[in-house]
Amino acid sequence: MKVLITGAKGQLGYDVVKRLEKSDIKCLGTDKDNFDITEEKQTKDFIVKFNPDVVVHCAAYTAVDKAEEEKDICYRINVIGTSHIAQSCEKINAKMVYISTDYVFDGEGDKPFETTCKPNPINYYGRTKYEGELEVQKYLEKFFIVRISWVFGSHGNNFVKTMLRLGKERKKLYVVADQVGSPTYTYDLAKLLVEMIQTDKYGIYHVTNDGYCSWYDFACEIFKQADIDVKVYPIKTEDYTTKAKRPKNSRLQKDSIYDYSRLQNWDAALSHYFKNMK
Ligand SMILES: NC(=O)c1ccc[n+]([C@@H]2O[C@H](COP(=O)([O-])OP(=O)(O)OC[C@H]3O[C@@H](n4cnc5c(N)ncnc54)[C@H](OP(=O)(O)O)[C@@H]3O)[C@@H](O)[C@H]2O)c1
Repeated sequence: MKVLITGAKGQLGYDVVKRLEKSDIKCLGTDKDNFDITEEKQTKDFIVKFNPDVVVHCAAYTAVDKAEEEKDICYRINVIGTSHIAQSCEKINAKMVYISTDYVFDGEGDKPFETTCKPNPINYYGRTKYEGELEVQKYLEKFFIVRISWVFGSHGNNFVKTMLRLGKERKKLYVVADQVGSPTYTYDLAKLLVEMIQTDKYGIYHVTNDGYCSWYDFACEIFKQADIDVKVYPIKTEDYTTKAKRPKNSRLQKDSIYDYSRLQNWDAALSHYFKNMK
């Protein structure tokens, strides 16, 4: 099996490449240096020439707030870029993994969203990620659409790293406590993706670490495990203004992944992350 990964310099792509290498699966991690996914010819020529059996598409425009202002580039990367990848996969009959997000949902209600729930994104980034899903389904049958949330990993920027920095700079912090979801540890997710691509169980999946928490709970656990003495206060979404709206309920129903190894609870994943970072 031969696998091509996009966004290999990003948080998730980096760990997917590492996991494939560990599993002795031939792979090529690509980034903008190899091809820019918004450039149709460059992208298609590269993928068709490499002729992989699977493409794991991790590249994306991920700046959620900036996306409200940079709509054009966000659309070109998340929708048109994804379409180029899907069309390339169609041409060479490759499987495609498309990484999507909890932000395709509106966050209404307090039940976990099922894979069959109708997406209704409330910010521009979420809208483009959902349109990316539609492009994948338009061209392919052999696809895995994997919706994930609250990503953290050793490589790149994320909430854990931001909290660690702020915790050292400040004596007190205010963190949103009425948005609930599940952190996703890229190390654990990469392991599951490598299992998944070796099957033909195509479809839409929700994959995160087990358990739910608020951003406030997540921050408190980070400081507890990192042994940082900072006072954390819970606040409401309304008290923390951002350009893009965030869903209050980001819980994803994960029954569909229990054919695979279940991801450990999010706090155990955090502890593994700290051990790995040492
Ligand atoms: N981060 C989260 O909390 C989160 C939550 C839910 C879902 N997701 C999804 O999970 C996936 C992985 O996210 P991540 O956190 O690993 O993202 P990331 O760290 O921002 O990495 C994205 C990668 O894509 C590359 N990229 C951007 N535009 C490109 C282009 N035109 N051509 C080629 N490469 C390009 C970036 O390169 P440059 O840095 O050079 O631009 C970067 O290496 C994405 O699909 C994202 O939408 C993320």
